[in-house]
Amino acid sequence: MTTDNGQLDQFNDSFLRACAGERTTPVPVWFMRQAGRYMPEYQAVRGKHDFLTMCKRPELAAEVTIQPVDILGVDAAILFSDILIPLEAMGAGLSFQEGRGPVLSPPIRSRQQFQELHGIDPYEDLPFVMEAIRMLRKELEGRVPLIGFAGAPFTLASYLIEGGTTKSFVNIKRMAFEDPKLFHDLMSLITGVTIDYLTAQAEAGAQALQLFDTWAGVLGRADYEAFALPYAKRIVQALKQQNIPFIYFVFNGGHLIDLVKSAGADVMALDWRTDIAHATGHLGSDIVVQGNLDPAALFLPEDELRQRISRILQQGRGAKAHIFNLGHGIMPEIPVEKVKMAVDLAHQLSA
Ligand code: CP3
Repeated sequence: MTTDNGQLDQFNDSFLRACAGERTTPVPVWFMRQAGRYMPEYQAVRGKHDFLTMCKRPELAAEVTIQPVDILGVDAAILFSDILIPLEAMGAGLSFQEGRGPVLSPPIRSRQQFQELHGIDPYEDLPFVMEAIRMLRKELEGRVPLIGFAGAPFTLASYLIEGGTTKSFVNIKRMAFEDPKLFHDLMSLITGVTIDYLTAQAEAGAQALQLFDTWAGVLGRADYEAFALPYAKRIVQALKQQNIPFIYFVFNGGHLIDLVKSAGADVMALDWRTDIAHATGHLGSDIVVQGNLDPAALFLPEDELRQRISRILQQGRGAKAHIFNLGHGIMPEIPVEKVKMAVDLAHQLSA
């Protein structure tokens, strides 16, 4: 591709430099769920294929991965897939039901059910993921880096044990307290699978990795330390070998930030409930932060959106480096123009 003045486009590595702790101008921007139903171009593909088929066909996954790079001008691409995909390869029944979200069936509640699950060979069992990564590296060459990802063990265990999305987390907490041996055996199995899976993504060409711990925030500090953190830590440590940046995102984890930091990831991703200034105030300025606009703020009129983005960028200057993102995924109801506006504002206001 060429720019207006006829020069060859340079590889945009601002995201990778920020991950490594460099303060970039402008700050890099990408959004969780940047490929998704809010975008008509995604809907056009999704209208022809169900979600799991899109995840399993590398050319479709690659196509929708690139859409936000072309349409929004974000500084990184994130592989189109889902954190629940490896659970199916472990032997769990996975489906996505319209209006109900993901369903894991049967839910894993006994040792006997646990014994039906097994480790994976990512190359054998999830070849479509590695193929999508290889295709994307070719298609993105000279543009932006590609982020791979996985769900953190506590979050994946919550889907396995609850059988889907839950509000109470009664079954996972019950297992952790009533049968800790079974709970820890399940967490160890998921941890091994996740290490193998992320290692394969890195070997296939992912240039950074993000671990999503969407539900660990339902734990108090002592329980996070006992039931979630050791496993996240094991994954972070194992992936250091790959020498690519590692981002750890605990949603709703404001009460855990010092523990989250102790997991040892290169980048800490924050949701909107935790000000970046709060994180640097407690942890010091030597952290690289990613975040943290409330996705719902994309419904604000331009002036107020600008003010909010500006405040976040200001706080980001108090950290070692900052990657602008949302505090959670883009909602399907958000107008595309607002998403694009947010990318442009974050770039302009930090240039
Ligand atoms: O961010 C990206 O653009 C990359 C792709 C991605 C998806 N899911 C695509 C997706 C990533 C990184 C995820 C992670 C994921 N999946 C998480 C962790 C992050 C978070 O949101 O907290 C979780 C908890 C899941 C589980 C999951 N997948 C749920 C609860 C749902 C249903 C919710 C809904 O919006 O319907 C999904 C489905 C899903 N994953 C969609 C997309 C684009 C919607 C599928 C569709 O088109 O119908």
